[in-house]
Amino acid sequence: MTPEIVAHRGASQHRAEHTRAAYELALQQGADGLECDIRLTRDGHLVCVHDRTVNRTSSGRGVVSTLTLARLSELDFGQWHHELPDSADDLVHEPLAQPSAGQHERGLLTLEDLLGLLKDGPPHVKLFIETKHPVRYTGLVEAKMLALLRRHGLSTPVSKEESRIVMMSFSRLAVRRVRQHAPRLPTVLLFDRFLPGLRGGALPDWADITGPGVHLLREDPDYVARSAEQGHDTYVWTVDDAADIDLCRRTGVRYLATNTPANTRRHLESGPSATVAQSLPGE
Ligand code: G3P
Ligand code: CA
Repeated sequence: MTPEIVAHRGASQHRAEHTRAAYELALQQGADGLECDIRLTRDGHLVCVHDRTVNRTSSGRGVVSTLTLARLSELDFGQWHHELPDSADDLVHEPLAQPSAGQHERGLLTLEDLLGLLKDGPPHVKLFIETKHPVRYTGLVEAKMLALLRRHGLSTPVSKEESRIVMMSFSRLAVRRVRQHAPRLPTVLLFDRFLPGLRGGALPDWADITGPGVHLLREDPDYVARSAEQGHDTYVWTVDDAADIDLCRRTGVRYLATNTPANTRRHLESGPSATVAQSLPGE
């Protein structure tokens, strides 16, 4: 099976993470899925920001949940990102961002905007939405997310397979909450270590897809087959290097989350690499 490529925070190696430009580039590069992290602003809007604070990714400082949408919208989420590629090879494949980078390269992205982009994109592309925990407003983030998905007609797909949205979290409570209120949405339980009961491949009945970090696959490649025996596809994060891509392909991973969708696609299309030490162009 060839894994489906999910652009992690957009094409985030080549554009600032979670910006509109990062997702537009991911779509141009033929990603099968887009991944985002969401958080609530102080005034109740869902925004695509990974960290608890905006310190790393913007020109401002502060905790996302204490800032209003208006304040967050004034910040520059693009200027921190390096504008030179990691290698000259990338110049062939990825034109550099223009110096006059506009709002779509630097502005805050709301979940609402990202849903718009998804709906305008190819119909097979899925959006993997991760809710972050612990957070000040606990379950409000899932409640607001579901309300938004309902407004966009995305919360009751005909089948889980056909859903444009996949919900994910490391928080078991968050995934359960979504299953309870939107039973037709597919869910991924993310994990970065094998908690009791997970290693055998089974999942609680409120989760559909297993979500191990790629380090767990390196340690236990047969985990993917055991999950498949239990009826679960696997979503693996974050896979940027050639040996890991080969590992995902070899073991039958369904969804591969990567910061470099184009490089990953090229590698998958070039067939299994001769040596696991090979690294991708651009790394
Ligand atoms: O796609 C899952 C992965 O994104 C989880 O880790 O820290 O990048 O959100 P993180
Ligand atoms: Ca994430």
